[in-house]
Amino acid sequence: MVDLRVAVGPLTLRSPLIAASGTVGTVYDFAAVGALDAYGAAVAKSVSDEPWQGRPAPRLAPAGTGMLNGIGIQNPGIHSWKEQARDRLGDLDVPVWGSAVGRDPDAFARVASGLEEAGVAAVEINLSCPNLEDGLMFALDPTASASVVTAVRNAVEVPIGAKLSPNAADIVAVADAVAEAGADWVVATNTVWGARFDVATRKPVLSGVVGGYSGRPLKPVALRCVWEISRSLPSLPVVGCGGVTDGEDVVEYLLAGAAAVAVGTVHFAEPRAGRRIRRELVRYCRRHDVTAVTDLVGSWVPWQ
Ligand SMILES: Cc1cc2nc3c(=O)[nH]c(=O)nc-3n(C[C@H](O)[C@H](O)[C@H](O)COP(=O)(O)O)c2cc1C
Repeated sequence: MVDLRVAVGPLTLRSPLIAASGTVGTVYDFAAVGALDAYGAAVAKSVSDEPWQGRPAPRLAPAGTGMLNGIGIQNPGIHSWKEQARDRLGDLDVPVWGSAVGRDPDAFARVASGLEEAGVAAVEINLSCPNLEDGLMFALDPTASASVVTAVRNAVEVPIGAKLSPNAADIVAVADAVAEAGADWVVATNTVWGARFDVATRKPVLSGVVGGYSGRPLKPVALRCVWEISRSLPSLPVVGCGGVTDGEDVVEYLLAGAAAVAVGTVHFAEPRAGRRIRRELVRYCRRHDVTAVTDLVGSWVPWQ
């Protein structure tokens, strides 16, 4: 038996795999097609205070072995989300985490409260949306990120994680600031900015031109972020996220220092990927005499 349990801040998860926000809907609507039993937690699509329409089409495009998206966080707003989710979250075979977005710290706090009232086990703070004050993404700036985390920390009792961006110039400074403000863990990372153009029409492949690049090519970028954060802030749990497609990707994140690993884009091609990835992780552990996945965390070996 391989012990798959991991700790993420105050939470113990039965599996190191987490279903990433925006790739498994509200979780309960994904239950029929996905394999929720493979995950230690599943994060619902981000929700804002008021309904957001999102961007006009086209908002998804393939890009090499990765994917570009410019959805614009379309969502029904926390009021309607809460009404729909309230009675459904408890029946699922996985703890559901909510994900909050907003244009200012108070809006994040209102959403987090609504998520908590709906019964989520934790709140992930999606800092990758623009700040009302300066139009810049919160996650680029340690002070702006910390102000959001402080507001959410004061609003809810459930554990909170802060989702960071690889676009930040100094992701360690942002991680340090949000930890100081009360985040129980950080997620590294959200998508990286990208763009593509159609040479036949000369139009951008996304209506908003720039979108989030995810999938396999994001992995080395996110691994670098995980490694830098866990090396500089060893007591801060990091959830690795970016391009995970198979069990060895999970191992790589654990070696780099991740406490758990989120799985996103692969769900669009293979909704039940979590079960395969978990199986592959167990196979790796058996072959390498690893009896507990936590033994892999941070166990990378430097060159002499
Ligand atoms: C279509 C799409 C929608 C997403 N929506 C959200 C979202 O609402 N909130 C969030 O925090 N991350 C969102 N993400 C980012 C993912 O959760 C994840 O951080 C990112 O895609 C990197 O992981 P991956 O390469 O495994 O997909 C979205 C990603 C995709 C591809």
